[in-house]
Amino acid sequence: MISVKNLSKHFGTTKAVDNVDLHVQKGELFGLLGPNGSGKTTMIKMLTGQIRPGSGEISVHGVDVLAKPLRVKELTGIIPEQENPPSFLTAEEYLHFVAKVRKLKDIEEQCDWWFSYLDFGEQKDVLCKDLSRGTRQKLMLSQAFLHGPDLVIIDEPLINLDPLMQRRVKDFLKDYVKKGGTVFISTHILEIAREICTGMAIIYKGKLVFSGRMDDTAIGDRPLEEFFLELVC
Ligand SMILES: Nc1ncnc2c1ncn2[C@@H]1O[C@H](COP(=O)(O)OP(=O)(O)O)[C@@H](O)[C@H]1O
Ligand SMILES: [Mg+2]
Repeated sequence: MISVKNLSKHFGTTKAVDNVDLHVQKGELFGLLGPNGSGKTTMIKMLTGQIRPGSGEISVHGVDVLAKPLRVKELTGIIPEQENPPSFLTAEEYLHFVAKVRKLKDIEEQCDWWFSYLDFGEQKDVLCKDLSRGTRQKLMLSQAFLHGPDLVIIDEPLINLDPLMQRRVKDFLKDYVKKGGTVFISTHILEIAREICTGMAIIYKGKLVFSGRMDDTAIGDRPLEEFFLELVC
């Protein structure tokens, strides 16, 4: 589903992503892990065509992201880092707008399902600029999954959500891959990945230090933090 070869992106002297190879199979809930500033967002921006790599190759759904970024965007649900829905639309107007762009038929019904599932129907008519950060995140999650894409890429999916909502979203993500979807998330919280991901990559100072299955024997039953420290120290 995702294939990355020799991918690099430097900002001045900062090697945000440094010669990374990465492969994600269909049906995985894949976590890109690493502490703040390790290159996760830069990686996601390149995967989704938001920024051009310095060098390297990226294919998503077998499509070359550099050559056909709009095709990749059509096939993928995306939540960029700290993305805000438009300030001048209500939550419902924004979701309906995305539903139209995604060419959905039963727009009202599909959008209402999300308002109910993530429990923010009462904020339907509130302007996005006046929504709490958590509710904006619920809206962004709804827009990403609305058209049931084969692949959804999310930068820090659980950010700003309360524990109850985090549980619901984690269960939703697990269920989505069970039904055949592929989900790629980034997180700096290792235990989130430990709990829900089937595969993972650990990136540190731009370099890939591990890529494999969550049940890899090298990890065993240890907390991921311990495994991570062993890799980077
Ligand atoms: N547009 C940019 N200009 C300069 N430096 C950047 C830019 N974007 C990211 N960086 C730097 O690249 C590194 C990786 O950042 P980022 O990809 O945001 O990490 P993460 O998402 O893992 O926290 C950091 O050192 C960050 O300061
Ligand atoms: Mg980030």
